[in-house]
Amino acid sequence: MADASTAGGAAQQDVAIEGILPGEHWAQAPADSSDVDSFFAESLRSSTASIASSILEYRTVEGRTYHSERGNALYWGSNDEESQDSMDIAHHNFTLALDGKLYSSPLKDKDVKKVLDVGTGTGSDFGDRHPAASVVGTDISPTQSVWVPPNVHFEIEDCTQDWTFPLDSFDFIHMRFLVGSIDSWDLLLKRAFAACAPGGFVESIEPSPHIESDDGSVKPTTAMGQWGKLFVTGGRRFGRSFEIYQLGTVRKAMEKAGFVDIVERDIKMPIGPWEKDPKRKELGEFTRLGMFKDPEGYMLFLASALGWKKEEIGVYLAHLRKELTDKSIHGYFRQKILYGRKPEA
Ligand SMILES: C[S@@+](CC[C@H](N)C(=O)[O-])C[C@H]1O[C@@H](n2cnc3c(N)ncnc32)[C@H](O)[C@@H]1O
Repeated sequence: MADASTAGGAAQQDVAIEGILPGEHWAQAPADSSDVDSFFAESLRSSTASIASSILEYRTVEGRTYHSERGNALYWGSNDEESQDSMDIAHHNFTLALDGKLYSSPLKDKDVKKVLDVGTGTGSDFGDRHPAASVVGTDISPTQSVWVPPNVHFEIEDCTQDWTFPLDSFDFIHMRFLVGSIDSWDLLLKRAFAACAPGGFVESIEPSPHIESDDGSVKPTTAMGQWGKLFVTGGRRFGRSFEIYQLGTVRKAMEKAGFVDIVERDIKMPIGPWEKDPKRKELGEFTRLGMFKDPEGYMLFLASALGWKKEEIGVYLAHLRKELTDKSIHGYFRQKILYGRKPEA
C-alpha cells in the first residue's frame, strides 16, 4: 500500500464530493468535549500461524499500522489492535441485527461442506457453528484469531488478484465490509462465481458511508454529516469506490457474473441508543461503541491522503465523539445484504 499522502494521484479538486469541508475547517472550530458522557467514555476504555515476515512489514500513518504492500491491495483501515477490537464490535453488532445468524442465504446445513470468507478480518464464527464444514478465511493482514477450531484456516490472499481456489469448489462464499477496498466489483463477483459450486450461494453485506437522519438532526456541516463525504472523496482519490450502496454496484456485478435468484435487503443501523425498541437501542449502542472506540482507525488514512493535518484530524474526531454522545442527534447507516445462487447448469 502506498503512503497515504502519495497514493492515488488524482488531483484533489477532481475527486472532492460536493459539500465536503476541508481539513482546515476543523482546526478553526475547536470542539468542547467536556460534556461528553463520562460514564460512557469510561465504559469504552474498559472494553476491550506462521506468517512470512514481509506480511508483517506494516505501513504506518501517524503511529497507526496498515497492511503491508501486496500487489494492488489497498485497504484504508488500520490493522492494529484498536481496529481489530472495532471490527469485533461491528461483527457482534451485525450478528445481533441478524438475530444471532451469521448469514441470510438459505443454506441447507448438511450441504455446506466448503466455505470461503473473503476479507475475513479477525476471523469467522462459521466454523464453530458448522463443525462439519471446512472454512477458509482470506485477508491481506494477519489479524485473525489463533484460537480457532480445526475446521477453520486462514490464508493471506489479495482478493483483487486472480483467485487460486479450484473452480466450483465452495458451497458458500461470504464477503462483508469490503467497501473502499475493491478496484473492480465485477471481477470480484466473477471470481466468486467461478469458485462457487453449482447450487452454492455468494453473500455480500456492504454499508453506505453516509450518516443519515430522518429528522434532519444530522446536519451536513457537522462531523457526522461530513463522515460519508470524507470516505467518498478519499475513495475516489484511490480508485476504490465507497458509493457501491448508492450505485447498486454489487447487485449489478452479481447479475453480470451469472448469479440467479438474487435477494436484496436493506438494514438501517442506528448510531446511539435513540430508538425506542430495545433491540434497536442495543444495535445503536454497539454501532456507537464501534465508532467511538476507534474512529481514527477508520478515517486517518483517507483524511491524511486528502491533505488533512494531524491537528485537523484531532479536532474533527473531537467533534465526532461529542456528536456521538449527543442525544438530540438521531443518525444511522444504511447497509445492504445481497445473496445470489450459482445455477446448477
Ligand atoms: C472492515 S474489515 C471487515 C472484516 C470482516 N469481513 C467483517 O465483516 O468483520 C475489511 C477487511 O478486508 C480486508 N481486505 C481489504 N482489502 C482486501 C483485499 N484486497 N483482499 C483481501 N482482504 C482485504 C482488510 O484487511 C480487513 O480485514
